[in-house]
Amino acid sequence: MNNTQKLFELAKTSFKNAHCPYSHFAVGAAILSDNGKFYSGCNVENVSYPEGTCAESGAIAAMINDGGKKIAEILILGNGNELITPCGGCRQRICEFATPTTLIHLADMNGVVETLTINDLLPHSFK
Ligand code: THU
Repeated sequence: MNNTQKLFELAKTSFKNAHCPYSHFAVGAAILSDNGKFYSGCNVENVSYPEGTCAESGAIAAMINDGGKKIAEILILGNGNELITPCGGCRQRICEFATPTTLIHLADMNGVVETLTINDLLPHSFK
C-alpha cells in the first residue's frame, strides 16, 4: 500500500467515526507527517454549533500532540455532491504546518480526485 492509499484508508475510518448529527456531513482527514507517521481525525459536532471541530483540526492536533512538526501530505475525504475542499479556517490551520511542497489530496469515496498545494488553496497567506 502506498502513502496515498494508506492516507485514504485512514481517512475512511475517521469518516465513518465522524460525529455529525447536525449537518449529517461526515469528513475524514489523514496526515503523513515529516516524521514518517500517520495521523487522522474526523469532524466532531456539538449541540452548541460553533463548538464543533473540523476533521483537519483533529488530525493536526493528533500530529502535534505526537511531536510531528510538518505536514508532508494531507488527505481530506467527504461524501457530498461536490468535491470537498477545506474550509477557510482549515486552510489557515493547514498553512501553519505546511511547506510549499505539502500535498493536499481532495478525495471522494472512490479515491483522490485532485491534489493541490497550500498556495493553490490559500494564496497570499498571512504566514
Ligand atoms: N467540515 C470539516 O470537517 N472540514 C472541512 O474542511 C469542511 C467542513 C465539517 C464541519 C461540519 O461538521 C461539517 O463538515 C459541515 O460543515
